[in-house]
Amino acid sequence: MAEVLIVEGGEAAGRLVSDHIVGLVQIRPDMVLGVATGSTPLPVYRELARRHSRGVDFSRAWAFALDEYVGLPEGHPQSYRAVIDREVTVPLGFDRSHVNVPDGGDGDIETTGERYEAALHAHGGVDLQLLGIGTTGHIGFNEPGSSFASLTRVKTLTEQTRADNARFFDSLEDVPIHCVTQGLGTILRARHLVLLAFGEAKATAVAAAVEGPVTASVPGSAIQLHPHVTVVVDGAAASRLEHADYYRWARDHKPAWQGL
Ligand code: GLP
Repeated sequence: MAEVLIVEGGEAAGRLVSDHIVGLVQIRPDMVLGVATGSTPLPVYRELARRHSRGVDFSRAWAFALDEYVGLPEGHPQSYRAVIDREVTVPLGFDRSHVNVPDGGDGDIETTGERYEAALHAHGGVDLQLLGIGTTGHIGFNEPGSSFASLTRVKTLTEQTRADNARFFDSLEDVPIHCVTQGLGTILRARHLVLLAFGEAKATAVAAAVEGPVTASVPGSAIQLHPHVTVVVDGAAASRLEHADYYRWARDHKPAWQGL
């Protein structure tokens, strides 16, 4: 089962997860961090940026993003390559040549998934994968119905996800219809999954992913198949969890030697 940590809010989550990531990069400077986009991981990036400004060095670490839109012009501010550059690469001091984002360019789109899988493999896979969750229950951009064995590939976004993400674009029509995303099988290969969610709007998706049946209809439920998962949520996102009291109890009695 996943460890579920109910924290006060984004800032507390940012501190908790950053402590752990800083510990990893200090032990293994060339660690591989799996990065997610969206608003959810921003408190973690902000806290890591603060640690970097106090001397934590990410210049030898590697980053792999979960997903990318297909067909946005190069340099588009909402391309995930640009978002990761703004939120992660620059503020945390990653070497740009160490930051990988799936290629959503129209050119070699049929082979983009295979190329990304090969790059992941060449770097020994992801040590810690940060995940958000969409209101459709998606992780990465694996929409309902995604195979649990899926690898990086082109997917079609649901209308719900396009509507959710329209806030980042001038209009709904500007939101791409296709994306390239790590598959659920790819995500399950990461050594440690850290799923974050904040706010009431995520409560149903969190409950379904953490406690519901393991089903392709809720791609986030794939985390139940992974041996090392940490779910970090605020009270609102945890509000539909049936066993919330137990998670709080377990946290209060967490053995001191046990990290994340
Ligand atoms: C986006 C991303 C996901 C992200 C999710 C939630 O579409 N592809 O990786 O986890 O939707 O976004 P937010 O964190 O902004 O709620």
